[in-house]
Order: sequence, then C-alpha cells, then structure tokens
Amino acid sequence: MTTPIASHWTDRLPPMLGRGARAVATTYTRGYNRLPLSIGRGIHRLAIASLITQSILIVSGGAVRLTASGLGCSQWPNCMPGTMTPTPEMGIHGLIEFGNRMLTFVLAAVAIAMIISVWRIRHTHRTVFWLSIALLCFIPIQAVIGGITVLTDLNPWVVSFHFLASIALVAVATLLVNRTGRESRGEDLVASGPLTGTMRSLGWTIAITSALALILGTVVTGSGPHAGDPSSPRHGFNLYLVTRIHVVPVYLLVIAAVLGLYLVYRTHAARALKRGYLILVVAVLAQGAIGYTQFFLGLPIGVVLLHMVGTAFLTAAATNVWDRSTGVVPL
Ligand code: HEM
Repeated sequence: MTTPIASHWTDRLPPMLGRGARAVATTYTRGYNRLPLSIGRGIHRLAIASLITQSILIVSGGAVRLTASGLGCSQWPNCMPGTMTPTPEMGIHGLIEFGNRMLTFVLAAVAIAMIISVWRIRHTHRTVFWLSIALLCFIPIQAVIGGITVLTDLNPWVVSFHFLASIALVAVATLLVNRTGRESRGEDLVASGPLTGTMRSLGWTIAITSALALILGTVVTGSGPHAGDPSSPRHGFNLYLVTRIHVVPVYLLVIAAVLGLYLVYRTHAARALKRGYLILVVAVLAQGAIGYTQFFLGLPIGVVLLHMVGTAFLTAAATNVWDRSTGVVPL
C-alpha cells in the first residue's frame, strides 16, 4: 500500500479528461511519492504542534471569558452585521474575541498538515490516520459550537460544552503524540509485560475522576463571576457548594495518581509509564494548589487563567496515563 504511484499512470487516464485534470493527477502523484513512508520526527513534531495549539485554544478562550470579551464579536460567523472583522469602535474586546476565532485557522492548518503527512501510510497506521481525521473534523464542529455560544449570549451550559469539546481535542492530540512518539523513538507505549488488572483499573479511575473534575469545574465557572460578558446568564448555584462538589473527584484523582505512582515504581513498570505517573502527580497537585489559591483570593483573573492552563496540562497527563495503562486505543 505504501509503494509509489507509477508516474506513467496518468497516461492511462481516459482521453475525455481535460489537460487540467491530468495536471492535477500528475501533481498528486508527484506529491504522494514524496510523502513519508514511516513515522519520523517530522510527524511527531506535528502531533506535538497539534497538542500545543489545542491547549493554546483553551487558554485563549479563557482570556476571552476573563476579559469579558465573549460578546466582543456579537455575531457569528460574522463579527458584526455585515463584517467578518472587528471595527475600531468595538475596541479591545472585539480584537480579543476575533483573535480567538482566527486561531481556528492555525489549528486547521496543523491538522491538515498532519493528515497529508500520514496519507501514504494510512493503511499501515490506521489509528494515527483516523485520530488525525478526528482532529480535523472536530475543528469546524468546535467553531460552530463557539458560534452557538455567542448566539445564546454565552449561556453557561453552552460555554461548558464549548470548553469540554476543546478538552476532548487535547485528549485526541495526546493520543497522537503517544503513537507518533512511540514509533519515532522506538519507545514502549504500554507497560512492559502484560498490563495488570490493577493498573487497568487505576487507569480508568484516573480517566473518570479527571473527566468529572473537568465537567464539575465548568459548573463552578458557570456559577462564578467571570461570565464572559456582564449581561450573560448565570447558573445561580451557590458558588461555595458547587466548588466543594468540584473538589470531590479531585481528591479521588489525587489518591489514584499517588497510588499509581507508588505501584509503577514498586513493580518496575515501563519507564514511559513511570514518567507518565510522575507528570500526572505534579499536574494534579499543581492544579489543586492553583484551584485553592484562586478560590481563597476571590477569583483574580490571572490565577483563574493559570487554572485553565492547568486543565490542558492535566488533560494531557491523565490521557497519557490512561492510554499507557489500559491499551484501549489500538496502536
Ligand atoms: C485536578 C484538579 C482540578 C481540575 C482538573 C479542575 C478543573 C477545572 C475546570 C475545568 C474549571 C472550569 C474552567 C472553565 O470553565 O473555564 C474549573 C474551575 C474552577 N475550579 Fe477547578 N479544577 C481542579 C481543582 C480545583 C481545586 C482543588 C479547587 C479548589 C477550590 C478548584 C476551584 C475552582 C474554581 C473556584 C473554579 C471556578 C473559576 C471561575 O469562576 O472561573 N479547582 N476547574
């Protein structure tokens, strides 16, 4: 499947095809034959670029919310009626919201580059190929959810969904980084030897508690003061109570991560799994400390933004451990 396309195949195209079609076919053939035949550093770097840009989208979305620029562009897909770009009278809020929208094109460019670079090996590296396709397909869906967010005046449930869709994209990008890294560096993806039931259960516990912490965190945000615009609706839940509910899965996650770290060192598991657990423990403790700091300081926007950086970091760390300790997603 990865053999080059014979350059003379274009000569056998039906004569009714015009010169334009032949030129396209020839260009495709030349381009195809130049594509990589295996996963090397270039493809791995593209996967890392996907992970970084998807994480930046979370932080830039956070900046939009925390600077009250959520309705800086009051329309979607246009920024204002009759114009795609912000006008000077919309001020800094228009620029911030528009800048966040423009990031979509950067994400799409990275995703397209990823698909092109694995196109020739799509039959031998199905998971990498389909994860790349998923990443690209999700981007326009995410843009539409962003549009619905604006059109519903930043309804907090829609804002949550928009944020969680970005979290899902960070998870998909992490799976891509793992697979491309494994092949480009010859690294073990899963723990050496068969995965034990305990490690699998811990992997699932980490995935579930992380997901619950992330989902419940958005409910806290929807009840808090940073709506994205002063006129936007709020949940109206008691902030203190929802914050206490939000930290329940966090505590379970801390226990699972520390227990996992102890077990991987005791059982001499693969180096990558040990490193994965170490990063997870650092991520969860840092995120917890930032969470408490922002709560006790009355939610200053700088610390809240740091908590959002932490969500991207924690999502990647938890996905990595889940991936390496359950082996659910095929190589
Ligand atoms: C693993 C640990 C944690 C994770 C993954 C996490 C995740 C999240 C997420 C996803 C959000 C919503 C972000 C948004 O919608 O833009 C959030 C908000 C929040 N979290 Fe956490 N969190 C963690 C730990 C904590 C802890 C320990 C506290 C301590 C009180 C805390 C307090 C808060 C508060 C107050 C908000 C609302 C911020 C706002 O109004 O914008 N979090 N968290």
